Amino acid sequence: MANSIWVTWPALTKFGTLGVLTGVLILAGEREDLLENNLIDVENLETLNASITCDERSHTARLEDGTCNQLDNPAEGSVYRRFGRNVALDAASGETEADTLLSPNPREVSNVLMSRGEFKPATSVNFIAAAWIQFMIHDWVSHGPNKQDNPIEVPLPAGDPLGTGVMEIERTTPDPQRSEEDANLPATYRNVNTHWWDGSQLYGSDASVTEKVREFSGGRLTVTEDNTLPTDFFSGVPITGFTDNWWLGLSMMHQLFTLEHNAIAEKLQALYPEKSDQWLYDKARLINSALMAKIHTVEWTPAIIANPVTERSLYANWWGLKGDRDGRDDIQEDFEKFINAIQNSDSWIIKFLLENNPDLADKLDSPGFVEFGLGGLVGARDSQNSGVPYTLTEEFVAVYRMHPLMRDNVEVYDIGSNIVANTIPIQDTRDGDAEDIMDDEGADRLWYSFGITNPGSLTLNNYPEFLRNLSLPLVGDIDLATIDVIRDRERGVPRYNEFRRQIGLTPIREFEDLTQDPTTLANLKRIYDNDVEKIDALVGQLAETVRPEGFAFGETAFQIFILNASRRLMTDRFYTKDYTPEVYTAEGIDWVEETTMVDVIERHFPQLAASLVGQENAFKPWGLNMPEEYESWSACTKQQHLWVNGAMRTQYDADALPALKEIDVLGLIDRILREKVKDKKDVAPAGYEKPIHARAAMAKVAFNATEDSPYTGIFEGSDCGFLRLSVTGDPADRGFAPGLAWKTFIDGQPSANVSALYTLSGQGDDYDIFANELSQYVLPEVNETLGTTTIFSLVTTRPTRLMTENLAQVNQQGTEATEMTAPTQIYFVPSEEVKHRFETAAHDFREDLLTLPEGTKVYDVYGTSMAIKTSLIPRKSRRFAEERREDAVKIGELVLTSPFISSAFSDEGIFFKHQRYEDAR
Ligand code: HEM
Repeated sequence: MANSIWVTWPALTKFGTLGVLTGVLILAGEREDLLENNLIDVENLETLNASITCDERSHTARLEDGTCNQLDNPAEGSVYRRFGRNVALDAASGETEADTLLSPNPREVSNVLMSRGEFKPATSVNFIAAAWIQFMIHDWVSHGPNKQDNPIEVPLPAGDPLGTGVMEIERTTPDPQRSEEDANLPATYRNVNTHWWDGSQLYGSDASVTEKVREFSGGRLTVTEDNTLPTDFFSGVPITGFTDNWWLGLSMMHQLFTLEHNAIAEKLQALYPEKSDQWLYDKARLINSALMAKIHTVEWTPAIIANPVTERSLYANWWGLKGDRDGRDDIQEDFEKFINAIQNSDSWIIKFLLENNPDLADKLDSPGFVEFGLGGLVGARDSQNSGVPYTLTEEFVAVYRMHPLMRDNVEVYDIGSNIVANTIPIQDTRDGDAEDIMDDEGADRLWYSFGITNPGSLTLNNYPEFLRNLSLPLVGDIDLATIDVIRDRERGVPRYNEFRRQIGLTPIREFEDLTQDPTTLANLKRIYDNDVEKIDALVGQLAETVRPEGFAFGETAFQIFILNASRRLMTDRFYTKDYTPEVYTAEGIDWVEETTMVDVIERHFPQLAASLVGQENAFKPWGLNMPEEYESWSACTKQQHLWVNGAMRTQYDADALPALKEIDVLGLIDRILREKVKDKKDVAPAGYEKPIHARAAMAKVAFNATEDSPYTGIFEGSDCGFLRLSVTGDPADRGFAPGLAWKTFIDGQPSANVSALYTLSGQGDDYDIFANELSQYVLPEVNETLGTTTIFSLVTTRPTRLMTENLAQVNQQGTEATEMTAPTQIYFVPSEEVKHRFETAAHDFREDLLTLPEGTKVYDVYGTSMAIKTSLIPRKSRRFAEERREDAVKIGELVLTSPFISSAFSDEGIFFKHQRYEDAR
């Protein structure tokens, strides 16, 4: 594909840290250009300022209507101020029916280019990310209720499912404050929310709303006894700052951050008991709003545009280039190397810039550019509006029309499970139904469910059907996709290619620049009359298939985002000059800096702690994460993590177990022998397939030691382990050959494990997995059909003997045995509870195991210390074996601490090290 029109910085990531920092610098240069060229003010603040007096409170508190953030320009950014523009005013005239408002027909655009056939998920993020961005949008922007008379009439195109006639779309309410002075301006519209990043979706943009949400005691917001939000009697929608377009995701967000506000207020009250309700409320609002802004900047955005350059840039927005609050040394070092490199005209960075970004190469000479470009915005000495009063813009609203993020259904799961318990169409989660669902399903289960499911991807033909058939109270049925297209045209957001020109991007030359998909191309060309200049802004953005790596949206939206994301922070007094302990309290600044979205969720839903283990970014799909510090965790935390986020999350439906597999002999040689004997990890690398014992059922298990057992370490007892029972391969192939693997976790140290078999060749046509006792030492077999003995001989001198020393060295608490005593051979003897319980005829052993409840004693474990003697004469070897077995005494019991489940994790994820003869100390 001809893609030279697309931005070049993403290619830099392949040059490592210096490449990433060069990318950061390019984005900073881009921001500087945009600040210089693309901020257009359309408001007359002077007149408005005249009627505002900033009182004492406003010096250290955010006011309800957003006034007095800038004390010398108090109307700036407040509620009802006009949306500014990021494109030149002569490119910003609204389209009308007299010209191109209805061309091409927006409903046809919706039907052909937007409608979702199959749901296309955005797999790098979870559904929390979709609810979050709408929650943020409701803090930032809304054009408010539309005008009711004189709707736009969109003719229904031929073959429209709604039949013939017209679809009526209300117009955006015109700006009531237009005066003669504004005659030269294109149509202007007002933001019914404050433009500031001030939590107005929770607190309101108007004192009368704030009054309704406050408890007026202890600085708190009102919640019911069971910590839900109070609701409006008629609509059933929560009483909160902004309630448009309500659905379940918003109920969850508003509840969570209302509870967070109260947690902050309670902490402050404990620290400052003499302070008034108003003081506590004002501080809690400041802190909670900054926390949301920080979560958005350093968590949501890096998840949705997961590229090393943007991640670094976003961290820099909040913390400067030092990367986080504590200024990490490695980042400082990288930064110094980078500064040295850009001071050297021979460096590849300078050459790259001269070739690709000559303006930026020039800027490097201007004093202060690097510090400004790469320095932190938050906590800067002063707020800075680049000479243009702060507002959000029509173009900003346009690029956040991200409705394809919405799924069609909410899938509800029990915490930890991956089996859908309930599916609720999103239209049934709207308005008053949202709170009913919160009650019925439980907010914790819903957070988990949003955490493990994906939103839709931001592409063409992925607009949810329910939004194209949306029923709005008082308005009737609408098609939001048609509206999205009309709104940009109506409000003078330029069509796609002009939009790109206006914001400093290269226009596309042909439809093929956008996509290579033949159907999409044919549709785009037909609808837009083969003219790239006609493509709607939203359609072009969704059509972009060349995206910086990791980006869920394209570079056009990102360009607007570079500008406005920074501006929301750098223009706000409370994120710059007054982001201080004096204004926020020291504890308040700590709260903002030290809290993550995972912390907030866990604080209010502690039941989710196990599902969030190792989850650094709450907006990325929750699952099994193996953080670096995993090994340092306690034994039971490790077990719980792998169980909840590994096994339970990938559990197979009991009646859809994957077929048993044949043994993969070549894979066996390759993986087991070359790699597995070396690896110590609990989890196999992604994509690992077990060449033998591929299918299993696994349970949590405790080992209860017999009181006078002589053996040390884990043999003294262990609460937290896994028991995995499997067969070598499909028994239809080589007979039923059961195998056992027991892994036991150790506080702060690698786990220990042992595996056991009945014999190498198994038990023939007896399909009862508990028919025989198993041991970690089995006799070599001359006629063993598979030849495993031979294969294993490649890596060990004792192919049929696994060692138990690793179990005897340290106990569960990680304490080393003063005198390690390990059995030479152990025997897993099926207990009375399971012996003869299952059929011997051919069937799937996993189905048996799945019936065993928690608490079942599965094995009595026996051990002997007799030396393992062997002889070349098989009869003699068998006699030695019998003597050892007779000598063995009971050393403990393995008891299930959960039922067995079968899962992809227990088939492919969990890793058992083979304890070779050579590995024992
Ligand atoms: C159930 C979910 C949602 C519903 C029912 C919904 C509904 C609506 C409606 C009715 C409008 C106003 C249309 C008009 O101009 O007449 C709107 C506007 C908008 N929505 Fe959504 N929406 C949802 C989710 C989202 C999400 C996930 C985003 C993500 C960013 C989003 C972003 C926007 C934006 C930016 C606007 C334009 C606001 C303005 O014109 O001031 N919405 N939505």
